[in-house]
Amino acid sequence: MQRSKAKQISQDEILMQQYNINSLSQMNEDFFKENGRYQSYFIQTFGCQMNEHDSENLAGMFDMMNIDLADSMEEADIIIFNTCAVRENAELKVYGNLHALKKLKVKNPDLIIAVCGCMMQQDHVVDEIKKRFPHVSLVFGTHNLYKFPELLLKYLSGDSKTLIDVWDIDGNVIEGLPSARRYDLKAFVNIMYGCNNFCTYCIVPYTRGRERSRNPEDVINEVKDLARNGVKEITLLGQNVNSYGNDFDNKVSFAKLLTMLNDIQGIERIRFMTSHPKDISEELIDAVANLDKVCESIHLPVQSGSTAVLKKMNRHYTKDQYIELINKIKTKVPNVALTTDIMVGFPGETEEDFLDTLDVLEKVQYDSAFMFIYSVRKGTVAENMDNHIDESVKKDRFNRLLSKANEIAELKNSKYMDEIVEVLVEGFSKKDKTRLMGRTRQNKLVNFIGDESMIGSLVNVKVTETKSFSLNGIALD
Ligand code: 5AD
Ligand code: SF4
Repeated sequence: MQRSKAKQISQDEILMQQYNINSLSQMNEDFFKENGRYQSYFIQTFGCQMNEHDSENLAGMFDMMNIDLADSMEEADIIIFNTCAVRENAELKVYGNLHALKKLKVKNPDLIIAVCGCMMQQDHVVDEIKKRFPHVSLVFGTHNLYKFPELLLKYLSGDSKTLIDVWDIDGNVIEGLPSARRYDLKAFVNIMYGCNNFCTYCIVPYTRGRERSRNPEDVINEVKDLARNGVKEITLLGQNVNSYGNDFDNKVSFAKLLTMLNDIQGIERIRFMTSHPKDISEELIDAVANLDKVCESIHLPVQSGSTAVLKKMNRHYTKDQYIELINKIKTKVPNVALTTDIMVGFPGETEEDFLDTLDVLEKVQYDSAFMFIYSVRKGTVAENMDNHIDESVKKDRFNRLLSKANEIAELKNSKYMDEIVEVLVEGFSKKDKTRLMGRTRQNKLVNFIGDESMIGSLVNVKVTETKSFSLNGIALD
């Protein structure tokens, strides 16, 4: 099969990365001799699962260097902020945190502060960091994350000036690097990078570049490796998983990929996100309905319920088409859990438009919704649209949306009362250590009475109480 952007990493590059990791590891040993402890790191991640997964990779690289996870940011020798550019709030928080780190840097001049992720792909952000935060050691972007050890080493051998390395190309799909990951019960697996959709409010196509799919064989090999290491549940990640394979000469559809992954022994559950409503195919809905490991849970961002707003957002579907799609999914996958992303306050959004959004909530009955207040992103089309909405109007709409969505989520959960649900047991409940916790196929959080030996396996739990955001129960097995 031919593909467009695949880049098997060369043997030289692998040796180079290994060399960097070994050198850093050696420096860490020297640190141990001097200080009686190994160096430690702290990563703060902002934004989506894609970033969470990138941070996992960074953590894996630290593992390879024997650098320990610090208990808190204050105790760490290396601090990384993996940033998100999707909304203004997250950006402001990064600036606030960087400002606060000045004090730590004064106390410990050897402290290494790195910032990476989507924010760094924007020139104005890098300029701001150079100007306002000279105590930052390292700046890198989304396309060259795998180079972190090299950059760290370069910084440590340099003159302590901020080292900036951001690539503004789309990046290749890098395969073949030594795996730097941790094995848990659940794992994220990237199947594609970037986005071609250019929704008018969204910065992602500018920070993550154009769509690039990973080769099915590479994805399958990674999942097999995860299964061999005890992983039971995978979540396939992409900004728009339904256009998986569009960049191949011989297209392999996302549904086909799911079918292949469904055959891998040891994997019990497969999830995926995110789907764009305009690209969901009949074949995919059938795959969710028919493949035993693919969970009945679909995240389908609606963004707005108003056809006029959707058009201005460049979403390529109408309110009616979206609802028709939802109905089709509900018919084919009767026990499906539906979740969504919704935004209020897009430029020009009227009260009527907003009522359309509430109407979609009512009609779809989402299991849960991620809700956002629109915030201007520099360089997007919506930035220059007329009629930006007043903050107080946005807040009012957001609160009304929130209470409606929560009301529906509670109602949806109440339907599970007395039902028997299959739970993948992840560990002890966070709030109550005498209970276990896990998730259903519909991704519902369940806290339940059971035996410690159940951790890591699938058990049937009878639901004895339902809440807005979780279920309580008792294990039957
Ligand atoms: N303002 C507010 N929310 C946004 N999102 C994307 N861009 C913006 C923005 N400029 C939301 C969308 C998307 C989710 C990841 O973030 O709902 O689906
Ligand atoms: Fe952003 Fe739209 Fe792409 Fe999602 S589909 S990442 S909202 S541009």
